[in-house]
Amino acid sequence: MEHGIERVLISEQEIEAVVARLGREITAAYQSVEQLDLVVVGLLRGSFMFMADLVRQIKLPMVVDFLTVSSYGAGTVSSGNVKVVMDLDQSIEGKDILMVEDIIDTGHTFNKIIGLIRHRRPRSLKICTFLSKPSRRLVEVPIDFCGLTIPDEFACGYGLDHAQKYRNLPYVGVLEPALIKGQ
Ligand code: PRP
Ligand code: MN
Ligand code: MG
Repeated sequence: MEHGIERVLISEQEIEAVVARLGREITAAYQSVEQLDLVVVGLLRGSFMFMADLVRQIKLPMVVDFLTVSSYGAGTVSSGNVKVVMDLDQSIEGKDILMVEDIIDTGHTFNKIIGLIRHRRPRSLKICTFLSKPSRRLVEVPIDFCGLTIPDEFACGYGLDHAQKYRNLPYVGVLEPALIKGQ
């Protein structure tokens, strides 16, 4: 076990199965859409690893883009002060947008991002998240595709960080409680 990680929450094998299932669900959901113009948008940095695995399991033509937002900074609690650090590279007007997140916690990040995306008039907007912590929700988010629901523990790895570390772990682990600041 990596230093600072208490135990494994979601193993590599479980991740693979969940991502494959999400890929099938997403492929099925868009398969019959006429003149599909799919843009899969990953929210950086947390979604980078999930995004890379997920797009390989979606069997549809697509364009991939990224939006960098940040709300946590170096802390462990969402501030609600969501900033767009780097915007999309293209217009999304009239396109079918699939937003991809690593985790939806309070919902603040997505609440802000959904408003911004809708304002740009896509034809459709769906949301896929690898993880969701419903017990922590402060703002409702309409999730179309959800990998796993997890309890209120500090998850790290597979893109998820604590103070920018642990993102490279190939599994999702629980951070040792002693390391959690600002809670
Ligand atoms: C994390 C996570 C989600 C968001 C979820 O991002 O990746 O984007 O917080 O929390 P919320 O539902 O309470 O808003 P963070 O702001 O830490 O940036 P990061 O993706 O670079 O880690
Ligand atoms: Mn994030
Ligand atoms: Mg983070």
